[in-house]
Order: sequence, then C-alpha cells, then structure tokens
Amino acid sequence: MTTEKIVATLQLPDHFQGTAEQKKAVTALANARLPFEVEARWRTTKHPFTVDFVRVAQCPRVVPFGSVRDKVEACKPGEILIGLDRQRKPFHGSFLTDDPHWGFEVGSRRGKSTFLSLSAAQILHQDPAAEATGIDVKRESFKSLLGVPRFHLHNDPADIAAMWNGIRRVKELMDRRCNERADDPTLEFPFHLLLIDELSQFSAQSMQLWRQIKEKGDPAHPPVWDDIAAIMWQGAAFRVHIVLAGQRIDHQITGGIGLITSLGFRGLAGFRRQHWMRLVGTFPVPRSRPERGRWIYSDGESETWVQNIWATDDEIKQWATTTSHDTANEAAVTGPTDGSGKWEPGTSAAEESTQRGTEWVTGNVDAAAYLGIHPETFRKRRQAREIPNTQRVGRSPTWTTQSLDAWGAMWEQEASNQPAEVA
Ligand SMILES: Nc1ncnc2c1ncn2[C@@H]1O[C@H](COP(=O)(O)OP(=O)(O)O)[C@@H](O)[C@H]1O
Ligand SMILES: [Mg+2]
Repeated sequence: MTTEKIVATLQLPDHFQGTAEQKKAVTALANARLPFEVEARWRTTKHPFTVDFVRVAQCPRVVPFGSVRDKVEACKPGEILIGLDRQRKPFHGSFLTDDPHWGFEVGSRRGKSTFLSLSAAQILHQDPAAEATGIDVKRESFKSLLGVPRFHLHNDPADIAAMWNGIRRVKELMDRRCNERADDPTLEFPFHLLLIDELSQFSAQSMQLWRQIKEKGDPAHPPVWDDIAAIMWQGAAFRVHIVLAGQRIDHQITGGIGLITSLGFRGLAGFRRQHWMRLVGTFPVPRSRPERGRWIYSDGESETWVQNIWATDDEIKQWATTTSHDTANEAAVTGPTDGSGKWEPGTSAAEESTQRGTEWVTGNVDAAAYLGIHPETFRKRRQAREIPNTQRVGRSPTWTTQSLDAWGAMWEQEASNQPAEVA
C-alpha cells in the first residue's frame, strides 16, 4: 500500500466537537468543493484541531476489453467479468452465487447497452450450448449481437407481443428443464440469460398493450410479469437468469408484483440521492461519478465502485461468436495447452483434445451401449456418481470416450470388489 497523499488540510475551530454529524458535514463540504473524492483524517486530540483530506483511490478511467481479455477468458461459466475496482482488481458478477438476478438503474449514455451485450457475449463464449434472449424496445441495445447464433433478439417496438412471446419461451424452457430434472436429477443445463434493456419503456408499452387487449376479470398487470416472476423465483436452479436495466427500476416498473426484492445484485450510475436510497439505502450516500461506465454495485452487503469494461461492437460480436472451446482446441493444435484457453467444466476437455481423435458419445442410450451396460444401469450409476466432464449438445449429455472409459473402469473396479453387484 502506498502512503496516503494529503491534498488539503483544514484548521478546525476550537469549539469543534467532532461529532459524527459535524464530521459528515465537513467531509461532504470538502467533497462538494474538490473535483475528486476525498476521505477525512481527523486530528482532534490536541490543539490546533485539523483535518487532512486524502484522495480516495480511483478506478481506472477506462478499461479496454483488450486489456482484460485473458481475465474474461479465465471466468468460469456463469461468471462475468464486469470491470476493475479502485484497487484495479477484477470485479466479477456471478450467476453461481446467491444473487441469481441482476438489476441496474443507470442514466442514459452510461454504458447499459454495452454492459448487457458484453455480459451476453461472455455467457455465449463460455459454453457452446449457452443461449441468451434480448428484449429491447429501442432497437439499438443489442446491435453488436445482431445475427449472433444462440442469441434470440426481440427488438421491434411495434411488436410488444413478440417480446412477451420471447419471454414466455424462456419461461417454457425453464419449465421443460424442471420436468427433465424430475426425470433425471443428475441433469445439468447450460446457462440461458434473459436480458431486458430499457425496462421502464418496455414496462410502459406492455401496460399500454395490455389495456387494449385485457378483458374483464384479467389481472391489472400484463401477464408477462408473471412469466418474469416465475423465472426470478425458480430460474436459478435451471440456470435461467434475468438481467434488467433501465433508467429507472422500481416496484411499479417491474409489474407492481414485488419483483424488485428478487434483484440480489444491483448497480447504479448517473444517479441521485433518492435513487440510491430506494435501491441500496446505505450511508453515506455516494456521489454519482461522471465517467462513462463508472458504476457502483451492491450485493446487499457491500458496495464497490467499478470501471466497467469498454468493448466495441466488433469485439463483443467476435467474443459472442467464438467459444472458449475454440480457443482450447486451437491451443491444442498449435502447441501444448497452457490453461489460458480455459473450458469449464473440463479443462480436461482441452487436455483430451491434445490427443488426436477425441471421440464424443452423445445420449444416455449410446453411452450405455458404448460401455456395454443396460441403459437403466447406466442411468442409476450416473445418478449415484456423475461422469466427470459431462457436457451437452442441445439437451443431450455428451462425453468423450476417455471420460466414459475412466468412469466405466471405476465401476468395474467397484464391481470386482463387490462381486454381488454385477453389471
Ligand atoms: N465501460 C465503458 N467505458 C467507457 N465508455 C463506455 C463504456 N460503456 C459504454 N461506453 C460509451 O458510452 C456511450 C454510451 O454507451 P451505451 O452502452 O450505449 O450506453 P446506454 O445504453 O446507457 O445509453 C458509447 O459511446 C459507449 O461507447
Ligand atoms: Mg442503451
């Protein structure tokens, strides 16, 4: 840690009592006058009382994508590199933790669309089976992802119903996964991210359409909010997650059905005191920063200032249309893997690819046949002990023959130790 640099010193009057109130007022005054944020260091044990102001460490002004590409590549599936904090440390959001859905209240031209598109690109890049759905009433939010496979875009402002349908399809995907899991508790799913940009406008247009079509006895809110609610309540278990962004996010704008509390991870930029109090509510209220992409995040416990990654449309598109899988395979062809082209689950997929002729077996039935055991035995054994590095092609599980061999050998070993249980 470097020693703090004092940028200003103030002599305090003898009657200064140093109450918390007074200190807060003086610090706020200094921050209002100085062009950068400061913290106070009080010296009030002997006369004359003084206060030193030290400059608070600042985030980098800009974090170009190219400068953090390797850190983005190193993320596990479900983890997003958001930017760098004041200590220049990588700041991640994660769908693997307790905060499965995100909400961002951010003024215009502060980097919402860039953030959402890059988050979607990261999810798509991490896993060739991952997908994302984008809802955008302004027809400009996801322009970098136009035509990207596995990205489902609904952005015709004249067709709000198509957006509702897009969201309904995500909800149906979740329901299907729920049923599949009931049949096979070992099933794991790839991520599906539902991103809604310009939330306030989407909300207003949805309400307008609903008023036109709703019949007597229908609920006051458009049914799209029930789909969103279902995803918020159950989605995480099936790897379906929601990211909401807009210039305002509140109870009413999220359908008026209590969804706001489900947003465990929040971010703000270009905000005022009352926005902070509504969405985060901690003291002291931070002052919004003017830099583009400078957001403050709260996970409900702590707040962190971050300079978000800045990526061009081309960089976002390029990232979304390649996968870590490609990187890993390329690394395998050109030389020994050094772990930089990471592929999770299964860095071993990369290792295995270094041996020529990696073969994949897809589906429970084929894999059982490959191992020469009954499909039901195969299913039961998977349930008891999942095959390492199980991956997916669409909805079917897939394994390298190496993984199956190793797993099969383990069961054979087990069986030879316990002759009673024969395959
Ligand atoms: N993280 C960032 N760092 C620096 N500039 C950014 C960042 N994100 C976006 N920008 C720039 O800010 C402008 C607005 O970005 P955009 O993502 O469209 O914001 P919004 O959707 O909030 O209006 C663009 O010129 C964009 O290049
Ligand atoms: Mg935008």
